[in-house]
Amino acid sequence: MHRYFLTFLAAVLLAGCSRSVSNPAGEKVFTVGMSQCNLGEPWRVQMNADIEAAAKKHSNLRMVFKDAQNDTLKQRAHIEELVSAGVDAIIVSPKESQPLTEPVAKAYQAKIPVIVLDRAVQGDDFTCFIGADNKKIGKAAGEWLRNRLGPKATVVELKGLMTSVPGQDRNQGFRAGIEGSGIHVAFEADMKWLEPDARKEMESALARLSRIDAVYAHNDPGAHGAYLAAKAANRHREMIFVGIDALPHEGIAYVKQGILNATFQYPTGGAEAIETVLKILGGQQVPKTIVLGSRVFTAENADQGGESLP
Ligand code: FRU
Repeated sequence: MHRYFLTFLAAVLLAGCSRSVSNPAGEKVFTVGMSQCNLGEPWRVQMNADIEAAAKKHSNLRMVFKDAQNDTLKQRAHIEELVSAGVDAIIVSPKESQPLTEPVAKAYQAKIPVIVLDRAVQGDDFTCFIGADNKKIGKAAGEWLRNRLGPKATVVELKGLMTSVPGQDRNQGFRAGIEGSGIHVAFEADMKWLEPDARKEMESALARLSRIDAVYAHNDPGAHGAYLAAKAANRHREMIFVGIDALPHEGIAYVKQGILNATFQYPTGGAEAIETVLKILGGQQVPKTIVLGSRVFTAENADQGGESLP
């Protein structure tokens, strides 16, 4: 009872706010709902911070943040709540592709502009998708390793959630990058983007394989988890570690500390999402897809800000 009443109250308040509030300049204040799939990883905390910082520069924007705590059903409900509350636009970074497709499509069909950030949904029923090219990043990671490993090298691949598009694309791109090189992926597992899972999977890989030349993890928490497992087994010097995200205080710091050998930047797109929302609310056309660039950071180039992917 209590929970439903609070949800109802929140919906009423939200709807009230989005209807008729003006800023001191007399402009209509738009309410933008942001549905985040979880805030457990530093990268997602950074995405919300980037969105908040960009939104704060505009007195005609008011943000409402929702955190689904890595629960797909909760995230579906959050999107439905934002629609019933009558927000002016929705930004969503979905946990999984298929289950979030329907609520996103329903919001879009209800004429609410929807920006899908970082993890894609299926079909075309959204206003704009913003994210980096995960196939390209995976391929670059494969090529980077290929240039450093011998032709019979043994690699462990720790995959991101394979029901999400970045996980699928980082896997496919990587396989294309090492194709024909003789590099052998001797162990692969879905660590669901989570450091503790990656650590556990790596313990199994270490137990099974007497030699590992490299670990390719789909994100930096995964690469770090693998490193910790290898270090605990005193085998960390035997292999190189490659991750993705390159947050300054996470992946890039690991590279500078000599924990990771490379990290590929995965920009959050938070600022671009706000820029795009403003254009849409201002009546401008926006592209269906906005592709963000990436950079690679290694011990050699990290102090110079990395190097852009071609
Ligand atoms: C955070 C995260 C990042 C990764 C992104 C992919 O939840 O796992 O580490 O790059 O999601 O969507």
